[in-house]
Amino acid sequence: MPSSTPQAPATQEAPAATQEAPATTQEAPAAPAPFVEFRDVWLAYNPTLEAQGHYAVEAIDLKVARGEFIAIVGPSGCGKSTFMKLSTGLKAPSRGEIRVDGRTVHGPLKISGMAFQSASLLPWRTTLANVMLPLEIVEPYRSQLKSRRAEFEARARTLLARVGLAGYEDKFPWQLSGGMQQRASICRALIHEPQLLLLDEPFGALDAFTREELWCILRDLQASQGFNVILVTHDLRESVFLADTIYVMSRSPGRIVLRREVPLPRPRDLDLTYTPAFGEIVQELRSHIGALKKPAMEVSP
Ligand SMILES: Nc1ncnc2c1ncn2[C@@H]1O[C@H](COP(=O)(O)OP(=O)(O)OP(=O)(O)O)[C@@H](O)[C@H]1O
Ligand SMILES: [Mg+2]
Repeated sequence: MPSSTPQAPATQEAPAATQEAPATTQEAPAAPAPFVEFRDVWLAYNPTLEAQGHYAVEAIDLKVARGEFIAIVGPSGCGKSTFMKLSTGLKAPSRGEIRVDGRTVHGPLKISGMAFQSASLLPWRTTLANVMLPLEIVEPYRSQLKSRRAEFEARARTLLARVGLAGYEDKFPWQLSGGMQQRASICRALIHEPQLLLLDEPFGALDAFTREELWCILRDLQASQGFNVILVTHDLRESVFLADTIYVMSRSPGRIVLRREVPLPRPRDLDLTYTPAFGEIVQELRSHIGALKKPAMEVSP
């Protein structure tokens, strides 16, 4: 079992009833339904692995509030990308249930957008055309594209401007730096205004300065648009700077072994990363991850 049972975030807790309230109204009002919920989710990648009891992730239980930003951290191979595939319906659980926005997930979710470590822009398309791509695929945009093209294009241009890419709309990916490509990839993930943004190591390949710049861009986009984010990262500072709640996964098979809320006030700016309060949370997470890695190192030749 996970050493710390994940619970609903503090924002979901019902307010305590006042002493003056009559007995009949003392019951706390029901907490709002979580936006993402994993109920005892297990995944084996194929029936043979399942028959052998080899699961990539095990017994995942968590509740994410609407608008919450969560980060998943853990050692390589622990199941972070698997968790993402489950969250967006690209993989169905072997056991358990995943609910997003009140519905059980049965297939790929239209309300999600994804970005990965590699920007994977199409080299023959301009930046603008790359950002517009989901609108050519995802309904209802696909059928509306002809009649609303100007509006959609304006939306893409606004997004690109927000991430500092105004003036680069007509450039091709090979004319952009790695950081610029990653910004365009985030715009592509957001163009259809998803309620859930999934980011799998999106800044992993970037230098430290560019990474911090993109943290701030993501922070601002999320603050203004209020979408949920699930961020997978190896970078503990990144998780503490951006997330409301951090989940630490154990070595494979991945289980959630720690749920850590980040009580640092928002808006957060980069100066915060040099404060003792920030450093303490990073250190706490590091000690958990270190403890997870030790047994693996002992048993591995
Ligand atoms: N398509 C697949 N078929 C079989 N096993 C898989 C498949 N994809 C992943 N796995 C296994 O599932 C486990 C979790 O993999 P996953 O990619 O989720 O890890 P991760 O935490 O994202 O790792 P990293 O930090 O290196 O990206 C690993 O043991 C991996 O070998
Ligand atoms: Mg991965």
